[in-house]
Amino acid sequence: MTAHGIISDVSTAADVLRSGGIIGMPTETVYGLAALAQSEHAVHRVFDTKGRPRQHPLIIHISSLDEALKYGKFNETAVALASAFWPGPLTLLVPRTSLVADWVTGGRDTVALRVPSHSIAQQLLKSVAEGVVAPSANRFGKVSPTSAEHVLLDLGNDVDAILDGGPCEVGVESTIVECTDTFQILRPGHVSSDQIAHVAGREPFASHGPSRAPGMLESHYAPNAKVFIVDSLEDAESQLIGMPESTNVRVLHFEDVNEYAERLYSELRDADAGGATIVIAVRAPSFGVGPAVNDRLSKAAADR
Ligand code: TXA
Ligand code: MG
Repeated sequence: MTAHGIISDVSTAADVLRSGGIIGMPTETVYGLAALAQSEHAVHRVFDTKGRPRQHPLIIHISSLDEALKYGKFNETAVALASAFWPGPLTLLVPRTSLVADWVTGGRDTVALRVPSHSIAQQLLKSVAEGVVAPSANRFGKVSPTSAEHVLLDLGNDVDAILDGGPCEVGVESTIVECTDTFQILRPGHVSSDQIAHVAGREPFASHGPSRAPGMLESHYAPNAKVFIVDSLEDAESQLIGMPESTNVRVLHFEDVNEYAERLYSELRDADAGGATIVIAVRAPSFGVGPAVNDRLSKAAADR
């Protein structure tokens, strides 16, 4: 396939998907690399384009809970969470139905489902009227894209189109909650553990040990610059004092935790574009989307 640029027409994007193509797709969290879940060839192209191992399962995106029920078996907790937070930045991991192909789940008996709230994503999913896989539209292990331009820079030569939906408002990937025999948060996101516990009427199990979501523990979301995490702006400043003046270093700090999430990935990309070798990131507070920001920061800082 040849390089295609940024488009704004939803029906063109839907046609590309229906004909088995792959596209960059906006969501409120990050941009996804979208393909029809039922197209084995298109889904394999998604894995190959990202450079992602084929056993790492993908999220199926649909336009409503009704659509989701075709793909997953929802227990009471899953229905409650879907009703409270969909459309929105929440992914539910539930037992799959026979409609879900092995090439989506890597042969697992569960499926991850999400109904995004972004209006253009909603229009696209309604128009396509079937499940669309969409991992974040970055190369495996790299920083996720939060604008159409990011997708163009990373994958522009390998996708059939990029649907522009403006900059992503949430900025970090969806919260993933497992609703099977276990009730567990697999990835923190904008929907917080307090909100989840409140709606479910019980506490999710604290996740520890090897993650049940493959691809979650290793170094990830990583810029080229080496990332260090500090507890306060003062700590960042004292680190700076100790460095040679010629060091190209970027400090990341936002008072507002939602703004931190929204801008995190574009700041990391800017740091790379500006030739920074070091990023010093001030830890986000531990409420709201803060734990999700800190989770992504610690993966960006992990040894590669
Ligand atoms: O916000 C988001 O969720 C974005 C946007 C585009 O919707 N998508 C996204 O997809 O972050 P991805 O593929 O980058 O991350 C999905 C995560 C992976 O770590 C994968 O291992 C996990 O979900 N996952 C998907 N299906 C799973 C399954 N059946 N069992 C366990 N983990 C699963
Ligand atoms: Mg990803």
